[in-house]
Amino acid sequence: MEGVIIGIESTAHTFSFGSVSTNGVLFPSQSSLFRPEEGGIHPREAADHHSDVTSELLNRVSNAEYFSWDSVVAIAFSQGPGLGPCLRVGASVARTLSTSLQVPLIGVNHCIAHIEVGRNQTGCDDPVLLYVSGGNTQVIARADGKYRVLGETLDIGIGNMLDKFARHNGIAFPGGPEVERLANNFTSEGWKSLDSVLLPYGVHGMDMAFSGILTSAIQRISDGHSLEEVCWSLQEHSFASCVEVAERALAHTGKNELLLGGGVACNERLREMSTIMCEERGSSCHWPEKQYCIDNGTMIAELGRRMLEAGISTELLDSAINPGLRTDNTSVIWH
Ligand code: ATP
Ligand code: FE2
Repeated sequence: MEGVIIGIESTAHTFSFGSVSTNGVLFPSQSSLFRPEEGGIHPREAADHHSDVTSELLNRVSNAEYFSWDSVVAIAFSQGPGLGPCLRVGASVARTLSTSLQVPLIGVNHCIAHIEVGRNQTGCDDPVLLYVSGGNTQVIARADGKYRVLGETLDIGIGNMLDKFARHNGIAFPGGPEVERLANNFTSEGWKSLDSVLLPYGVHGMDMAFSGILTSAIQRISDGHSLEEVCWSLQEHSFASCVEVAERALAHTGKNELLLGGGVACNERLREMSTIMCEERGSSCHWPEKQYCIDNGTMIAELGRRMLEAGISTELLDSAINPGLRTDNTSVIWH
């Protein structure tokens, strides 16, 4: 049956509705980002934001020229991982829509949605994924019916680290794009040496760590280094650790495609470093459009589409949110 699957994303700061046709054409998401006036993201405040913007977002979905409610064949939503109060808003809207439209409900794993939207957009078949977002930093590969986590951060996510460093320096959330802009300013006049602003490099076997580098970067600012220089050094060190682990994952698994995903995959320098590494070892490097790197409803719809095709849906009784869901908790039986 031709139709569309709606995807609802609400794991953290972003509330978003997206859709995909049953034959895999992605449609842009309608999203609203919660930006705290000061400090970090308070789960309750983010959830209130999501509730407040629900009807406006649904109106925007309804009014899109490519969309009609008659064509909806399923409702997919982020079941986890994420912040409980935020997840609950998305799940409630999803249950309501699924019940009133009388179409299947599909609870999806947010981390895996980052992978599947990337596979859709880039045509990658069996990649190693470097999943770099606010809350997560993982190197993932598919094996024996699961997306396996081969390496991950031992403390905070890389995006969280960039956001915290930015906040410490008066830059509003999300800090990653501004850190990128400042780093670019620093290198705009040519190659620089890292020697004067070395930071700890956190690779432990196949795992990474970012809290030590954050503390040191904040210290470098107190020592009098310029914000632009420290932003640059922070990117060089933290991205290098991700690329090193991704390279080792390619070597161990024998796979030859690297796929970037998650909000930090918007960063041009990370894309460049990943591409250089892949070229040096005869592999290819891919990433989806920026709108599909950051959290978005369309990626939830795309994973819902693959699950629906494989005959998977979620009964209302099984639709409780799962804030602690992990990438490797979900059985992967779709192509
Ligand atoms: P997840 O639940 O998957 O951990 P998330 O809630 O962190 O996702 P995303 O939208 O995937 O949300 O990622 C947001 C992160 O991406 C923020 O930390 C933000 O600073 C970072 N980010 C966005 N653009 C850039 C950029 N150009 N450079 C570096 N970081 C970026
Ligand atoms: Fe995400």
